[in-house]
Amino acid sequence: MEYCPLLHYSSTPFLGVAMDSQTWMMLSEKYVAHTYTRYPILLVRGKGTRVWDMEGREYLDFVSGLAVCNLGHCHPKVVKAIQDQAQRLIHVSNFYYIEPQIQLASLLCKHSFADKVFFCNSGAEANEGAMKLARKYAKEKMEGDRYEIITMDRSFHGRTLATLTATAQEKFHKGYAPLMPGFKYIPFSDIGAVRRAIDSKTCAIMVEPIQGEGGVNCPSEGYLKALREICDEREVLLIFDEVQVGMGRTGKLFAYEHEGVQPDMLTLAKSLAGGVPIGALLINKKVAESFGPGDHASTFGGNPLATAAGVAALNAILEEGMLENCEKVGIYFLARLEEIKRKFSIVQEVRGKGLLIGMELKREGGSIVKTMMQRGVLINCTMNNVLRFLPPLIVTEAEVDQVVNTLEEVFKTGMEHRA
Ligand SMILES: Cc1ncc(COP(=O)(O)O)c(C=O)c1O
Repeated sequence: MEYCPLLHYSSTPFLGVAMDSQTWMMLSEKYVAHTYTRYPILLVRGKGTRVWDMEGREYLDFVSGLAVCNLGHCHPKVVKAIQDQAQRLIHVSNFYYIEPQIQLASLLCKHSFADKVFFCNSGAEANEGAMKLARKYAKEKMEGDRYEIITMDRSFHGRTLATLTATAQEKFHKGYAPLMPGFKYIPFSDIGAVRRAIDSKTCAIMVEPIQGEGGVNCPSEGYLKALREICDEREVLLIFDEVQVGMGRTGKLFAYEHEGVQPDMLTLAKSLAGGVPIGALLINKKVAESFGPGDHASTFGGNPLATAAGVAALNAILEEGMLENCEKVGIYFLARLEEIKRKFSIVQEVRGKGLLIGMELKREGGSIVKTMMQRGVLINCTMNNVLRFLPPLIVTEAEVDQVVNTLEEVFKTGMEHRA
């Protein structure tokens, strides 16, 4: 791990007390709700693919704020857009027209299937919007009483009560009963299950084109296309949750483009504004008509600051070759991880697309994440045993080599340790 004294960050006193990272962590444990188990580092600076902690230690960041920092940390165009907008206008109500909001909506529609965009602040909120709109559309346009939404085992759609219920993983439901009525779960990537599940109550199917939190699960080829066909046949809406896979993460701006199918609605958040909180629901014309004034709202949704950042982020992704780099380096990364798989029997499978890559282990992966961190590399583990790699889309093959070589050393050490 590199130590960079030039970047040493000294915290100003807080409440009259001189602060170091240990003192900040103690305060965090005391005052911040314990909804996360945190690693014992305090990050204070980021640039491109790297972040630095308070002591000046450098980390190669293959977490990217969980698929948020697709452009890398503090992309200069995003920083400038935020600075310029903050000097002009940070917030006004959606009672008035907002210039960067209109720009971002226009750009998103220009580059996708969508005709309209509803802005909000997070992925969960975007999915809430999609589910509300599906129900409303069904009431207005479908025959009978159709309100049920089909979602997939191992999906992840958020932590609000409705999106938590849509998330077909029991571990997230514990303690929150009764859940929302109106959901049905089926296996992912199983077209037969979709056919059997749709009935007179179904109004929509919601699916991640590639499951992220659920273990980086890619559907079989043709699955999304078949889903579209069934939805058309049975007059059911199709919603793609691209909160994690959208904005270039898989090598295309939207993951649905790989299969050439279009949803009726698509949700975005995470990297849409280069790190500034935002969410968006992209809607086709047919469905958008069911949202009228007063039907849905968000105070901060489409706020000038967030959407100005969004415009800069989207333009940077499109203009700076990030999609091409993501595809190229993603293929290289997968191949390098396959080499590791051949060398170490604890690796079950390597899978993913673009720069959303999972390595399934035959044992839990938490200790590997910690050891990697001690060696200056940030990665994540999901579902207990799937190492997840989410580097910024600007990552280089040399940086991938650094991570893969570190992983190999950690695997070797771990095996010696067990012997
Ligand atoms: C596919 C997917 N949908 C929704 C969400 C929820 O997003 P947020 O945490 O912004 O509410 C996530 C978060 O990880 C996600 O991966």
